[in-house]
Amino acid sequence: MTALSLTINGRTYGPTEVRDELSMNDYLREYLGLTGTKFGCGAAQCLSCAIIVDNPDGTSYASPTCVVAAANFNGKTIRTVEGHAKNGELSVLQKAFIEHFAFQCGYCTAGFLNEGQVLLERLAKKPVARADLTKTIGEALDGHLCRCTGYVKYHEAVRDVILADPKRYLV
Ligand code: FES
Ligand code: FES
Repeated sequence: MTALSLTINGRTYGPTEVRDELSMNDYLREYLGLTGTKFGCGAAQCLSCAIIVDNPDGTSYASPTCVVAAANFNGKTIRTVEGHAKNGELSVLQKAFIEHFAFQCGYCTAGFLNEGQVLLERLAKKPVARADLTKTIGEALDGHLCRCTGYVKYHEAVRDVILADPKRYLV
């Protein structure tokens, strides 16, 4: 058993005694009711279950939750899809997903959103050349599967957010 404490979307949770084999996906969904994080393949193949992990040094990365034990997140700071909107207003990227009709069933959306957000924050710190943008987005979102095949629209949505603020994201 592990006494799990962590910060999710700016709020502290725990300590809560959890079984060491409890997955992070089950912890979020079943213990906390944060069902925006989906469970797809259960085998680290689709990333519909991905969340954002914020490192102490200010960097962030997207992590699957289906194959990772909740105990592995002890002491960490994470973000889930529920944390993107602020004061009832969707994030810029969420709005772009809607404007582009990027999702259909929505099952993969939280994963794409979290990965896209990580990319935006990374580019804000380390901009890329405009000529490399398509490749950069493709590499960042690679690994996220969409059974409704909305890939192009997700990519276009991320691209539009970046192109709308070139001084921030591009060199
Ligand atoms: S459900 Fe986690 S990678 Fe597919
Ligand atoms: S919108 Fe249905 S799986 Fe991507």
